[in-house]
Amino acid sequence: MPLIEWKDDMSVGIDEFDSHHKRLIQLINKLNDSIMSGDSYTVSSEVLAEVANYTLYHFFAEEEAMRKYSYPEYDSHRKEHIDLTEKTLGLLQESYNSKESIGPEVLAFLKEWLRHHILETDKQYSPFLNARGLF
Ligand SMILES: [Fe+2]
Ligand SMILES: [Fe+2]
Repeated sequence: MPLIEWKDDMSVGIDEFDSHHKRLIQLINKLNDSIMSGDSYTVSSEVLAEVANYTLYHFFAEEEAMRKYSYPEYDSHRKEHIDLTEKTLGLLQESYNSKESIGPEVLAFLKEWLRHHILETDKQYSPFLNARGLF
């Protein structure tokens, strides 16, 4: 059973970003499977690194679109991206240092963050970017 499931109400009305979010959900579910099946820290932290890499790629794409159209909430949106990136890289570092498996609290954090960020923060750019021709 996946940890997070994509639902239509998560759509931000822009195809590219919806598909990024779907991929992120897929990767977080993959991390969940890895942790639940008792994979070693090496395997799980590799999946966490995949989550981190893809997150960076996605944030960059969103930020580029927001900058291009001078989205007024750019700074506060970017701040959320930076906070998550730092937290995720910190977790990754910790797992490498301690050689301990990534715990379920990491998943709970990622799941909650993603839900909050997509449903609240990302969705705020939808009307603004849609009005500028981005769908
Ligand atoms: Fe975002
Ligand atoms: Fe996003």
